[in-house]
Amino acid sequence: MDLIMPCSSLFLLFIFSLHIHFLVPASSEFQPFRECTPFICGGQEISYPFRHNGQPNHCGYPGYKLDCDRDNLTLLSMESLEYQVIHMFRSEQILKVARTDLSKDVCLGRYVNTTLNSSLFNYTSSYLHSALFYNCNSSSTPRPYRFSCPKSGYGYFALKVDLANPLHEPCKFSVFVPILPIETQGLQSSKGSDNSTTISPATMTKVLKSGFEITWIANTSLCENCIESGGRCGYNWTRQEFNCFCRDKAYPTTCPGPSGMYAKVVVANLWFSIS
Ligand SMILES: *[C@@H]1O[C@H](CO)[C@@H](O)[C@H](O)[C@H]1NC(C)=O
Ligand SMILES: *[C@@H]1O[C@H](CO)[C@@H](O)[C@H](O)[C@H]1NC(C)=O
Ligand SMILES: *[C@@H]1O[C@H](CO)[C@@H](O)[C@H](O)[C@H]1NC(C)=O
Ligand SMILES: *[C@@H]1O[C@H](CO)[C@@H](O)[C@H](O)[C@H]1NC(C)=O
Ligand SMILES: *[C@@H]1O[C@H](CO)[C@@H](O)[C@H](O)[C@H]1NC(C)=O
Ligand SMILES: *[C@@H]1O[C@H](CO)[C@@H](O)[C@H](O)[C@H]1NC(C)=O
Ligand SMILES: *[C@@H]1O[C@H](CO)[C@@H](O)[C@H](O)[C@H]1NC(C)=O
Ligand SMILES: *[C@@H]1O[C@H](CO)[C@@H](O)[C@H](O)[C@H]1NC(C)=O
Repeated sequence: MDLIMPCSSLFLLFIFSLHIHFLVPASSEFQPFRECTPFICGGQEISYPFRHNGQPNHCGYPGYKLDCDRDNLTLLSMESLEYQVIHMFRSEQILKVARTDLSKDVCLGRYVNTTLNSSLFNYTSSYLHSALFYNCNSSSTPRPYRFSCPKSGYGYFALKVDLANPLHEPCKFSVFVPILPIETQGLQSSKGSDNSTTISPATMTKVLKSGFEITWIANTSLCENCIESGGRCGYNWTRQEFNCFCRDKAYPTTCPGPSGMYAKVVVANLWFSIS
């Protein structure tokens, strides 16, 4: 009796610890682990270095925040403009984005240059420095890709502009917008007598809606290993360092491997053979 009692209570203790280690109920999981579950927005995953607007800061790298609107579109706000995230190429750290204003209508009501926050994003090498011009004198715009807006009159699209030099164009507004070379195929149409191509605002809008690519600058190489080990990536904004949130707590890089669990199973089997 004296021997059996401790044995069975130890067995119960083991069952209890088994419960803790292997069948952790969601409610007892480490809070940041639960909070930083990737957010699915219309089939697109919002995860580190990004976090969804509703998630706590520590789920993302500082500055990288995305929203998911009612139509399940992933949105990025930057420098007073909003962009739709069309696609994410995680392994290349690339986002394909399109300005939501230009995706709705090339005939803008408010003229703002496309400007990246250079501490967060950079352009990829594969884009053209293009620009849109508005409120132009029709007589003085014998350039390719002329369009006409109901309120602002003639405008045109120039595939390549030199941003270093001021734009000497007979137009009131100029708006810088990058474009992927492949998308210029959508601009093909007939040339006019003065070599200008008239294009409908709808076609121009469609071309701009296809977007352009930007890279995120934060180094997210540590995240892959964390995910592989069953963790969720995060960032401690106080300590300014990467965190791998695991079911039990935060680790610097990865969650403890299954080798630890294996040892516990061996101990468990030992107990079974003893009792
Ligand atoms: C760029 O992003 C960083 C990080 O979020 C922020 O601190 C900074 O103010 C931003 N720059 C501008 C010009 O908004
Ligand atoms: C957005 O996605 C959620 C979850 O997949 C779905 O239930 C909802 O119907 C979607 N909404 C729209 C407007 O597509
Ligand atoms: C966009 O940038 C160009 C070049 O710096 C500038 O000439 C132009 O006025 C800017 N456009 C707007 C709408 O601010
Ligand atoms: C941004 O991209 C340009 C050209 O691709 C590159 O020269 C530059 O170093 C990049 N800047 C950062 C901060 O990565
Ligand atoms: C447009 O043309 C008119 C008349 O030819 C001229 O007075 C005006 O300065 C021009 N505007 C621009 C922006 O060049
Ligand atoms: C139109 O372009 C062709 C070839 O690029 C050139 O030879 C011709 O002079 C141009 N015409 C006008 C009116 O600019
Ligand atoms: C990213 O961080 C990892 C780990 O800290 C490092 O090994 C790698 O060189 C970094 N990559 C870049 C491009 O800075
Ligand atoms: C970040 O680090 C601070 C200081 O060590 C700690 O108090 C805090 O709990 C950490 N935050 C997270 C989300 O792990």
